[in-house]
Amino acid sequence: MMSKDHKTEELGTPKNSSSPIIVTGAAGFIGFHVSRRLANAGFKVIAIDCFTPYYALELKEARWAELAKIKALQLERIDIADASAIAKLFADHKPERVIHLAAQPGVRRALVEPQPYIDANITAFLNILEACRHNNIQHLVYASSSSVYGANRKFPFSEHDNVDHPVSLYAATKKANEAMAHAYSHLFGFAATGLRFFTVYGPWGRPDMAVYAFTDAIANGREISVSNAGKVWRDFTYIDDIVEGITRVLDKPTAPNPDWDATNPDPATGAAPHRIYNIGNDNPEELNDLIGLIERALNRKAIRKDVPLPPGDVLETRADISDLRNAVGFAPSTSLEKGVEQFVSWYRSYHTL
Ligand SMILES: NC(=O)c1ccc[n+]([C@@H]2O[C@H](COP(=O)([O-])OP(=O)(O)OC[C@H]3O[C@@H](n4cnc5c(N)ncnc54)[C@H](O)[C@@H]3O)[C@@H](O)[C@H]2O)c1
Repeated sequence: MMSKDHKTEELGTPKNSSSPIIVTGAAGFIGFHVSRRLANAGFKVIAIDCFTPYYALELKEARWAELAKIKALQLERIDIADASAIAKLFADHKPERVIHLAAQPGVRRALVEPQPYIDANITAFLNILEACRHNNIQHLVYASSSSVYGANRKFPFSEHDNVDHPVSLYAATKKANEAMAHAYSHLFGFAATGLRFFTVYGPWGRPDMAVYAFTDAIANGREISVSNAGKVWRDFTYIDDIVEGITRVLDKPTAPNPDWDATNPDPATGAAPHRIYNIGNDNPEELNDLIGLIERALNRKAIRKDVPLPPGDVLETRADISDLRNAVGFAPSTSLEKGVEQFVSWYRSYHTL
């Protein structure tokens, strides 16, 4: 059933420019940068987070305090897993566009504590979809992950490949999000776009991820655990490129595609106004090179301890970003060298080194 209220020719621009954009996970790494960028560009932004204790709350509070300085931003501490709280927020503020970035991230925690992945990534995601359904949302952009490629060994990873083999619970929840968003987009006619992020890093980054964790350990003379002797490749993607991609995608909701061939289904597309794009740097870098760049920026040698690849992790990620480039005329390109310099410079000022 397609809602009559959603006419595809109207999708690109907000019907009401005073309508706010909702950004979830705004005390988190990516949500913080996206909220700040949109608010500084003049959009009214409602930024949501509930400060989950996955990593240092001081860092989330510090990002929140930065956001609080921006007038166009309204900050809301809400748990999105609370259906009535999120329904009320949407009903009160009538947003037309939503950027849903809140989640329980990371593949490793789920090995010991799986429930937060269901609460934050499944229940909260359903609440966002329900809120979109009942409030005539024009475009939902949501975070998926390169981890959905799981056991795939065909490189580069393409949205047109089958992704039915996740190797972590986290990846399984992100894959579920893509399926749920497709179903809601199909049933209720609102445009939705899932972005598969590839290893994002940069200032205000996540302490559990390699760039931050290695910098912190090397700066403080602690040992770093290096998987597979550093022979691990990632499309490290700089935060500014991710923010640019998200904001461009937000302006380009896809239209329904009645010509889609359901007898030969393409996983990346469908008849509904739902699309999935990879967003990564398209240039895998070896972990050893990353360590070398951090050592150089800190002017300090790493103390390395070799460890096997943890279960749920993959040896290589490499993004095919031609669909994103074709859709929005942009693809991430910041070099790891420049990005690490920027990160270490922020790290020094944040930790007063
Ligand atoms: N950073 C990456 O490299 C990367 C890669 C792939 C996918 N992603 C996805 O991108 C999104 C943003 O990631 P990030 O790196 O900024 O993570 P992050 O952990 O820094 O931010 C997520 C934020 O969501 C909040 N949150 C979690 N559950 C919530 C709930 N129920 N209600 C309200 N807020 C809640 C957390 O408190 C946190 O501040 C996530 O969906 C993540 O899975 C990130």
